Amino acid sequence: KKMKDVTYVAILGYGTVGGGAAEGLTKNAGRIERRYGKKVEIKYILDLREFPGDPLGDRVVHDFSVIENDPEISIVLEMMGGIHPACDFSAAALRAGKSVVTSNKAVVEHCGAELLSIAAENKVRYLYEASVGGGIPVLNPLIHCITGQNTVTEINGILNGTTNYILTRMREEGLDYDEVLADAQRLGYAEADPSADVDGFDACRKICILAAIASGKMIPMDKVRVRGIREITQEHIAKANEMGARVRLVARAVLPEDGCVCLSVEPYYVRRDNPLYGVDDVFNAVSVTGDSVGEVMFYGKGAGKLPTASAVVADVLDIVARGDSFAADENIMFTVAPEAYSDKLPEKYALSTEQTLGTPVFA
Ligand code: HSE
Repeated sequence: KKMKDVTYVAILGYGTVGGGAAEGLTKNAGRIERRYGKKVEIKYILDLREFPGDPLGDRVVHDFSVIENDPEISIVLEMMGGIHPACDFSAAALRAGKSVVTSNKAVVEHCGAELLSIAAENKVRYLYEASVGGGIPVLNPLIHCITGQNTVTEINGILNGTTNYILTRMREEGLDYDEVLADAQRLGYAEADPSADVDGFDACRKICILAAIASGKMIPMDKVRVRGIREITQEHIAKANEMGARVRLVARAVLPEDGCVCLSVEPYYVRRDNPLYGVDDVFNAVSVTGDSVGEVMFYGKGAGKLPTASAVVADVLDIVARGDSFAADENIMFTVAPEAYSDKLPEKYALSTEQTLGTPVFA
């Protein structure tokens, strides 16, 4: 087979992650061509801005319909942030027969259910590995290696890099959260509106996505009880030290047999013997418990340009390697099910939480 096969892609949003994905595709062009027998070419970059002097500056367009109407584009990489117009552009791309890869957790939480069904109807793929856990491969292993043959009963995670970075530096340097936030922004970890990080909404979106993959039920995030780290002070850090624990923002999903989905995001005093105890800085960790496999842990960088871009490029290469037809195990078809949400942990979980994870900071 000739090596000159080209997959043309379009990037929507040339910010931190978009720039990282472009860099990842460019830097690895030789490896990709050798390994997949195909070139992946960035044909367009959609952004409101111009990028004079950028090596890909000549690919910049300002009108999405150029991409939508170009039959040569087979994959659209949506890294815009925000729900609108990212959601509409994704739907339009899928309807135009293009697969979509996204890092946009707001879109996956808010319209992932609909986009997955549009992808199925149009026999293309909608992949969103980068939306949870930054560079950690966690969603694809869950979908392909765990949820098919396991009933998932529990997920516990540190799912926000910014707040974990802030809590780590508060502990190590005695600083207050607002003194460290600027550094998290400079490092490209924080959201455009960092309240999404510090108030727990970003972690909430991600646990909603994980729980939807595990249960098939998407709980809209505005249902979920969320508490962030804004009120965490040096007193809490000192108390954690005394207890031999560490303050962590923990996102939890408990899936009891009655079909309820119990979700919460709040700071915990995490016990020293729990694996989340040692997860510092921008690292995220996700523990998933399945009835056959037991507990599985995922760990890695949860935010930042290149880690997140690595997950985006992984989804692109999955399409290059395995094709762009919607696969049976991607047919998880989240059902939006606000009624399944429960705020109350069943008794046995409440007890084991205290014994294995720790206690909430704000009782
Ligand atoms: N602001 C997010 C975080 C980026 O800090 O985890 C990655 O989703």
